[in-house]
Amino acid sequence: MAAVEMVIGKNGSTKVTGDVLIKDHEGNAINPPGNPFWLCRCGASKTKPFCDGTHKKIGWRDDSYSEASSAPPSPSL
Ligand code: FES
Repeated sequence: MAAVEMVIGKNGSTKVTGDVLIKDHEGNAINPPGNPFWLCRCGASKTKPFCDGTHKKIGWRDDSYSEASSAPPSPSL
């Protein structure tokens, strides 16, 4: 089993299981709310970067996601 597993939920959050170090843009550690924890993909959570369940209330759908899709190119910084 992988040290960290991330499972992209269909029309929902990403479930993260394992020991993960999360940092904000200034390098400060952010403690996840548990293990596993869920990352917001819809952008509507009040507890970003974590999911608070808002995606269900607003009926968020990720129509661009396909389980058969290939990985996108790396972003240029
Ligand atoms: S994915 Fe759950 S609140 Fe955004």
